[in-house]
Amino acid sequence: MAARDAGITNLRVMCHDAVEVFEHMLPVASLETVQLFFPDPWHKARHHKRRIVQPEFVQMLRDKLKIGGIFHMATDWENYAEHMVEVMDVAPGYKNTATDGPYIERPEERPLTKFEARGHRLGHGVWDMKYARVE
Ligand SMILES: C[S@@+](CC[C@H](N)C(=O)[O-])C[C@H]1O[C@@H](n2cnc3c(N)ncnc32)[C@H](O)[C@@H]1O
Repeated sequence: MAARDAGITNLRVMCHDAVEVFEHMLPVASLETVQLFFPDPWHKARHHKRRIVQPEFVQMLRDKLKIGGIFHMATDWENYAEHMVEVMDVAPGYKNTATDGPYIERPEERPLTKFEARGHRLGHGVWDMKYARVE
């Protein structure tokens, strides 16, 4: 179904560096939710600095979220999930919405891709986290 037929009027698709889109093309305090699904995990320790979830990036995102807005991350790489929690737990202005440990159940609204379904069949894990902008 086309977005217009579904009644969606605020859809934009941008083929561009997401960091630049957030920095330069979105007004402050304008977003209800930011969804970051399966960002490149950069497995090797010496490449971890290339991971998109870093203190500076998440503060820039916070500025674009409304107060109460949600930053939802998902990854199938446990070490990246731990890294996300480490970064987010000390990031000013955010609070983890999870009530039983840092992770949440797989939310219905996150689409199940063929790739993820195959991972489930192979017994691989996926970790979801939702942090709210609280100030
Ligand atoms: C592991 S794939 C996951 C793709 C998709 N989100 C999914 O769940 O199937 C990560 C993707 O992020 C893209 N990517 C990495 N850094 C990016 C950036 N700064 N801006 C936009 N896309 C980026 C990569 O090109 C790659 O296609």
